[in-house]
Amino acid sequence: MFKLGDFDYRDRTVFLRLDLNSPVKNGKIISDARFRAALPTIIYLLEHGAKVVIGTHQSKPYKEDYITTEQHAEILSRLLGQEIEYVEDVFGKYGRERIGALKPGEAIILENLRFSAEEVKYKPLEECEKTFFVRKLSPLIDYVVNDAFAAAHRSQPSLVGFARLKPMIMGFLMEREVRALTKAYNTGERPRVYVLGGAKVDDSLRVAENVLRNGRADLILTGGLVGHVFTLAKGFHLGDANIEFMERKGLLEFIDWAEEILNEFYPNVRTPVDFAVDYRGTRVEVDLLSEEKWLFDNHLILDIGSRTVEKYREVLMKAKIIVANGPMGVFEREEFALGTVGVFRAIGESPAFSIVGGGHSIASIYQHGITGISHVSTGGGAMLSFFAGEKLPVLEAFRISYERFRNKLGGKTWKNRENWNRSPK
Ligand code: 3PG
Repeated sequence: MFKLGDFDYRDRTVFLRLDLNSPVKNGKIISDARFRAALPTIIYLLEHGAKVVIGTHQSKPYKEDYITTEQHAEILSRLLGQEIEYVEDVFGKYGRERIGALKPGEAIILENLRFSAEEVKYKPLEECEKTFFVRKLSPLIDYVVNDAFAAAHRSQPSLVGFARLKPMIMGFLMEREVRALTKAYNTGERPRVYVLGGAKVDDSLRVAENVLRNGRADLILTGGLVGHVFTLAKGFHLGDANIEFMERKGLLEFIDWAEEILNEFYPNVRTPVDFAVDYRGTRVEVDLLSEEKWLFDNHLILDIGSRTVEKYREVLMKAKIIVANGPMGVFEREEFALGTVGVFRAIGESPAFSIVGGGHSIASIYQHGITGISHVSTGGGAMLSFFAGEKLPVLEAFRISYERFRNKLGGKTWKNRENWNRSPK
């Protein structure tokens, strides 16, 4: 696959697809983690004289955190110490004019790509190629650099649509992510422990099934709503309030599937032994087998308990490989962050090669100053898809682009070729 160093970018226009989709509170972006992760690629392109057109999505239509990229431009400008112009357009005349006006070493950021209807659908590469987004921008672009690992499981025009039209190159972050995840997945070291939390229950079940069935994991520790589903599948009752909550979220339907996994791999899947509930606004811990478990009937479980954290910690300290995705509870509320922070901290202290991901939940790693994790992945769903053994459309697109353009080269490197494929401006 093409790497950044394979090409000469001086005076070339590069479409740089990033994933700067970030958590938003009261209309403001509250974490710059994904911005920082993208900096090495942006700096490399600017320093090598590229004209950089940055594109990102932010959330999805009608959601509260679906905002313009104006703040993204401000954050990038601050981190880079250079103005990154916010262009209030995706591929219209104004946007194309701003791209055409770029000078070497300058960058702009297009409007939230999902403001364009084409970008909201998942379509095969061939369909993405036909979109107006790709057709309108293609003539203006020399290269595509894709550093949006967190969106690598999405087949959308900006992510895969240019692959057969332009060389599509891996950014530094993409390379780092793929290398770390591949290492954890293909390792021969043991024990390999997976920690699955958060609310993406179906994705996590796919991971559990894949890594256990294909001999990629030795033990799975569960928390968050994934933990709830496995706990129920083991036959424990979590109280009426929690059952109603899970029914509303459509999660009860996953219990049978979790049971099937347990039938095959029961000792390899650990579930919490205690939970913390919200008892009139405070954290109260309840043992799963204690007299107090009636509290589950009226109070929502918002975290795993301290005893579970201790048990998980013992396992994690002995692991050789750790892959963790998703929080153990509602970490956004300080009193219910104990489980997530306790487990992430144990992962950081473990001598294992460790990867932690989970989209927005990785913000809590930085907030709580947790160090020692080998690789903090920017990917949530993308990371889960990878460990579920699925083909990621963006990684497939890199391969297709490489095959297409490598052959045209006849063995020469792009760097040495002058003016290839200069598009009429
Ligand atoms: C993520 O945060 O998981 C990525 O940005 C992908 O976002 P999406 O699930 O809205 O496609």
